Amino acid sequence: MALNSTPVLNDHCFNKLVTKVHALTGITIKPERRAMLEGRLLKRLRALKLPDFESYIQHVNNTPDEHEEFVNTVTTNETYFYRTPRIWEYISNDFLNNWYAQNKGKTLNIWSAASSTGEEAHTIGVLMQAFKDANAGFDYRITGTDIDSSVVQKASAGLYNGRSIGRFRNEKPELFSRYMVGSDDEGYKVAKNIKQNIQFKYLNLFKPTQTDVSYSLVLLRNVLIYFTKEDQELVLRTVHKRLNQEGVLIIGESESLNNLTSDFLTLSPTIYERSNATSGAKAA
Ligand SMILES: C[S@@+](CC[C@H](N)C(=O)[O-])C[C@H]1O[C@@H](n2cnc3c(N)ncnc32)[C@H](O)[C@@H]1O
Repeated sequence: MALNSTPVLNDHCFNKLVTKVHALTGITIKPERRAMLEGRLLKRLRALKLPDFESYIQHVNNTPDEHEEFVNTVTTNETYFYRTPRIWEYISNDFLNNWYAQNKGKTLNIWSAASSTGEEAHTIGVLMQAFKDANAGFDYRITGTDIDSSVVQKASAGLYNGRSIGRFRNEKPELFSRYMVGSDDEGYKVAKNIKQNIQFKYLNLFKPTQTDVSYSLVLLRNVLIYFTKEDQELVLRTVHKRLNQEGVLIIGESESLNNLTSDFLTLSPTIYERSNATSGAKAA
């Protein structure tokens, strides 16, 4: 390599990195995402003052402490409040009424299973609090999980502005002004009584921890697209185990379970129930 030239990601190193990413995260990086991987890891090479990708691969292999940084670098964390309005309308207008009619006095447990920086979990929080304010007997807990420790930290802080809140603010101005606290200069957080019902944790969907909590609603949105068909089916089996009998699963709008083997039945596009459910919250 010539002095000061930019390291290039050759086929050999790309294939090794793809294998490493898959082993650590379950994410399969497609050949068309090679430039993305190269660009992101170049920053890491520079920060570590490493001359080329081969040296970085050796560093990752010999330094388990680098794994966290490596994983955080390769994940794609795009998200914002009120993403895909149709599903929020379904949750507010159909799912909640149905769940509450059958579970008065119980706590609704919700899992945002690839929560990124937390916009999805906080959107759920606002909708749940609005429902609670109209139905005093209702209560909810939201758990957000992600494999990227840096986004888990940001989600826990829960401070948002700009594009992250733009759509929600424009499309649901009453909810925004009622439940979001802050200013354009300092950013916005959900109100304290919402925040206390939301927690964020590190979790690799391929290595789920033991837990007693079973969820009535799981949002697994815009993460399946990063996995192979076989890996998607693996994650869906895990999610199925964590869902209540009558639980509902929501995936991303560019995703579908149509060509997968799973124990879910379609309620409406991107909204599913367990195939052994006796009755479900029917989608509009
Ligand atoms: C594009 S974001 C989706 C955020 C949000 N669900 C949404 O739809 O707006 C995908 C997230 O999945 C996370 N992710 C990828 N692989 C994962 C895994 N194996 N376990 C847990 N989270 C994972 C990434 O870190 C990233 O934050």
